[in-house]
Amino acid sequence: SERSYVMIKPDGVQRGLVGEIISRFEKKGFTLIGLKLYTCSSELAKEHYKDLSSKPFFPKLVEYITSGPVVCLALKGPGVVASARKLIGATNPLQAEPGTIRGDLGIETGRNVVHGSDSPENGEREIALWFKEDEVCEWEPSMMPWLRE
Ligand code: GTP
Ligand code: MG
Repeated sequence: SERSYVMIKPDGVQRGLVGEIISRFEKKGFTLIGLKLYTCSSELAKEHYKDLSSKPFFPKLVEYITSGPVVCLALKGPGVVASARKLIGATNPLQAEPGTIRGDLGIETGRNVVHGSDSPENGEREIALWFKEDEVCEWEPSMMPWLRE
């Protein structure tokens, strides 16, 4: 089924929000199939955000994402891409609804704590970009019958 790439950005790691953020996706019921702490090169950050390369904030964005370790997550489940973005909330944390990760945990667009893929195609693209093949672990949680009918 569908897969999304979610990433706790360097501010989320530095602020000690890793457990809190992973916990929200775990509780929702998506299957965690990839997880690692990683400090990325500017090449990888640029490739990840290549659609934004013409934006004036692009150099600052690359600097932000490469400024410290991130936590990379791969999540699986029906509708995970759109649902993860709902859990994450609007790009500007001041506009993000309370109850969302950005709405609860941030105040600035340039420090918005977490990333989520914006389409299933980008989910696949980004998982392939951030994870080696053997770092993705496909498994069937035994609780699945209690989560899905
Ligand atoms: P991601 O999940 O990180 O992709 O965020 P998004 O999909 O909500 O927003 P988008 O893809 O448009 O932008 C990617 C990231 O660039 C944002 O999450 C911000 O960290 C950053 N960004 C976007 N717009 C601005 C801006 O106007 N100023 C600054 N400083 N950063 C921005
Ligand atoms: Mg985006």
